[in-house]
Amino acid sequence: MPTTIAIVSRKGGVGKSTLCSNLAVAARTSTIIDCDDQASLADWGDRRTSKNPSVISVPAKRATATLKKINTRWNFIDTPGTLDANVIEVMQASDFVLVVLRYGQFELDSISTTLSAVKLINRPAAIALNLLHPNTNAKALIESIEEAQLGFPICPVAICNRANFQAAAIEGLGVTEESKDTAAAQEVSGLWSWMKKEIKNASSS
Ligand SMILES: Nc1ncnc2c1ncn2[C@@H]1O[C@H](COP(=O)(O)OP(=O)(O)OP(=O)(O)O)[C@@H](O)[C@H]1O
Ligand SMILES: [Mg+2]
Repeated sequence: MPTTIAIVSRKGGVGKSTLCSNLAVAARTSTIIDCDDQASLADWGDRRTSKNPSVISVPAKRATATLKKINTRWNFIDTPGTLDANVIEVMQASDFVLVVLRYGQFELDSISTTLSAVKLINRPAAIALNLLHPNTNAKALIESIEEAQLGFPICPVAICNRANFQAAAIEGLGVTEESKDTAAAQEVSGLWSWMKKEIKNASSS
């Protein structure tokens, strides 16, 4: 039974495409639906030698219909940095929504619009922090962001700003394919393990 994960944020440049490609690689048997007309992940897919994950580039309006024709274990949908009717439809068609939050006060101030839309569609969802400075005490920071106030769980494994993400993107790779031992690879693996537990809990409740 395929499980579909939508990666969203109304804010641009927070790392949606970066986390989408890296999570799809970590998931091993996966398809990426790139429905952002920037087509970053379609370009990334063209740079890959591996056929997994396969990357399908479609207009956001076609994402839900495309999804119905795919039968891989995991589907990841990379969405544009907007919250229009097409992205709402994509979220509704997904089993789980991952909201990417690039950490900063202005970003925290503006995330409420994205979260309100996610609340309305009533799908299981969580927040992933991306682009933290590597010296940040992520645990203390996550504790300081009130989950109750945001209304969604925050992954305890934050993703830091690391050169490996840039290097892997250039090569058409995920950071876990470059080496399993880097901090970037461990963060992606930690995020993916946590998400799988959240998805399992949501489907059994
Ligand atoms: N954890 C990270 N470490 C280092 N660089 C990162 C990280 N996450 C994202 N980046 C870089 O930040 C830039 C923006 O990331 P990305 O394109 O994934 O964001 P996006 O949310 O998909 O943007 P858009 O809204 O334009 O689609 C890219 O150059 C990417 O390589
Ligand atoms: Mg993107």
